[in-house]
Amino acid sequence: MTFKKILITGGAGFIGSHLAEALVKDGYSVKILDDFSSGNVNNILRLFNDKNFKLVRGSVTNKLANSHFSPTPCLLISDLYSELLLHLSAER
Ligand SMILES: NC(=O)c1ccc[n+]([C@@H]2O[C@H](COP(=O)([O-])OP(=O)(O)OC[C@H]3O[C@@H](n4cnc5c(N)ncnc54)[C@H](O)[C@@H]3O)[C@@H](O)[C@H]2O)c1
Repeated sequence: MTFKKILITGGAGFIGSHLAEALVKDGYSVKILDDFSSGNVNNILRLFNDKNFKLVRGSVTNKLANSHFSPTPCLLISDLYSELLLHLSAER
């Protein structure tokens, strides 16, 4: 794979957390976006100290903004930048 930056939605869930761990171990830079509606922080605790891992707390349904100066709570586009998106946030 030629890309290095991967975003996993639902990355605190069962599948996403295992995927995140495997990808970080393989040298990828992994961000996860999760609203913790069914995911658990314990699934990703072991990743917190890795410089190639980042947690963004929020929902895929949140609005996106370019800067912090948005009137409504938003996720920043820059926080979610990635080269590959793996979408696992959904209900079982
Ligand atoms: N586990 C299985 O055997 C299995 C089999 C077939 C398909 N799937 C599908 O794979 C996906 C992941 O499954 P899983 O077992 O890891 O489920 P999971 O519930 O453990 O993980 C889903 C994650 O998505 C998060 N999430 C839900 N809505 C969100 C939102 N709006 N924004 C951000 N995050 C959100 C949850 O908090 C959770 O961490 C699901 O779509 C599931 O239907 C799972």
